[in-house]
Amino acid sequence: MTTAPPAAPTATAWRHRHLLDVDALSSSEIGLVLTGALRMADVARGDRDRPGTLRGIGLTTLFYEASTRTRVSFEVAGRLLGADVVTVAASASSVTKGESLLDTMRTLEARGARILVMRHATSGAPYLVARQFGGSVVNAGDGRHGHPTQALLDLYTLWRRLAPDADPASAFLAGRKVVILGDVLHSRVAHSNLWTLTAAGAEVWVCGPSTLLDGFEAWAGAGVGGTRPFRVTTDLHAALQDADAVMALRLQRERMTAGLLPSLGEYAARYGLTAERLAAARPGALVLHPGPMNEGLEIAPEVASGPQSLVTEQVANGVAVRMAVLTLLNEARTAR
Ligand code: CP
Repeated sequence: MTTAPPAAPTATAWRHRHLLDVDALSSSEIGLVLTGALRMADVARGDRDRPGTLRGIGLTTLFYEASTRTRVSFEVAGRLLGADVVTVAASASSVTKGESLLDTMRTLEARGARILVMRHATSGAPYLVARQFGGSVVNAGDGRHGHPTQALLDLYTLWRRLAPDADPASAFLAGRKVVILGDVLHSRVAHSNLWTLTAAGAEVWVCGPSTLLDGFEAWAGAGVGGTRPFRVTTDLHAALQDADAVMALRLQRERMTAGLLPSLGEYAARYGLTAERLAAARPGALVLHPGPMNEGLEIAPEVASGPQSLVTEQVANGVAVRMAVLTLLNEARTAR
């Protein structure tokens, strides 16, 4: 193990005290996160000493919805940076006695929280908190709306796999076809990924049954950010044809109203990502899934754990990406 700390990502072009979604980030800011994550990867793997960038800083995770990957990786990232990490599960807090979101935030701030990583079932909840909180808010997933650090870790994973020598602030996915498959309607991961993937120049195809694509045709035509169109189709074979990467999404039964799907079996039969279907993609096409996975439903077990799957790599990369985000936010906050 070496003793020299890694160079911290520079925040010269980073303007944000909060990370609420990726739509606020310029390409150069996305590049700062990705290069920062690359520097942090050795620390995350335990191959380099911890930098102590957040020593003495209170980092609180406040989750109103269940999470394994996001909560744990933020907590690991915070500890690796030296932060004082506190975990709050809303289900075990005074929220169950009627405490409001803003009261909870004020309580945590009074207790020393300077960075608040929050997940909430209501789209926009982190924006409300950010207006009142004195420190930095990180959106760890809000309703159907956004999941910025998931999109950034997915982009980091594709960068390292498909274009490791390219400038991460550039259109390094130009000429690459990336498919987002499944329940895009309810997916905050899809919304945030559409932003980052198109910003990186990918040709993005969104595919699923028509009932789970409602509104996406209009968005695809207008383009992400009004300038970056993408494709929408119900034809899974056409979507997968010559794809470089496929991102399967979890079927979000907890957000689904009745009648959107004839049955789960029908969905698996028509839209499940099987090895046979994946054969239409480029040889060795990359398979991503944000997790948690419903194996046998949106993705076949042999694909989920097959040689093309990056699912565990995504989880591992999540720590380094979140370390980079926390570092950048802290630098921006303390520079004010
Ligand atoms: N991808 C993701 O958000 O997973 P968790 O719900 O386990 O955090």
